[in-house]
Amino acid sequence: SNISNKQAKQHVADQIAQRAKDGDVIGVGSGSTSFLALQTIADYVKEKGYKVTAIPTSQEVMITCATLGIPTTTLATAKPDWAFDGADEVDPNHHLIKGRGGAMFHEKLVIASSPENYILVDQSKFVNRLGEKFPVPIEVDQRALHLVETKLSTFPVEKVHLRQATAKDGPVITEAGNLILDAYFSSIDKNDEMRLAAIPGVIETGLFIEYNINVISV
Ligand code: A5P
Repeated sequence: SNISNKQAKQHVADQIAQRAKDGDVIGVGSGSTSFLALQTIADYVKEKGYKVTAIPTSQEVMITCATLGIPTTTLATAKPDWAFDGADEVDPNHHLIKGRGGAMFHEKLVIASSPENYILVDQSKFVNRLGEKFPVPIEVDQRALHLVETKLSTFPVEKVHLRQATAKDGPVITEAGNLILDAYFSSIDKNDEMRLAAIPGVIETGLFIEYNINVISV
């Protein structure tokens, strides 16, 4: 991304860091915008002498927390007070596509568990309709791959790609051991998140329709 894009991300990161209070349990999303916000929060709480605990949404975030000296916990034993994350697309109704980084399952668990959510985006993320720039990522149990591909033909889907790894041969395997199908929709309906989730073997999708979120942008 270019320099003004980086400045925009730093600006939203600064805004979010100032929300941190002593003792907060904070859900931490994945992606470059969240990464910057996490670094900024780490500096802010160090300066204030606050102790916060993170619920990371991916292994990369867990490692970053360790590097920054922020203790971590999990949804199994804690509930976030608030959470922040990025997004790939935001429509006029603040519905989202997430999951470019493949972490949407864990991200959705955190956002659905958190009473307060902040989605940090720069202007490049705003679209008139979901699916304009990004496919909808669908995390699929390996045994359900062909079933899900077949069922996707009942949706307005133009093409479907099994997401491929870049640093190894073969498909991306998620942290939960599943595959990711990237589905290119020509239109996305309000009910599509539910309809996709109802297909056997679909673990989660990157569609976030009608979640309790606040979009923070510059
Ligand atoms: C991770 O799975 C994604 O949902 C990210 O939150 C999303 O891709 C945003 O990433 P950037 O902040 O790097 O654009």
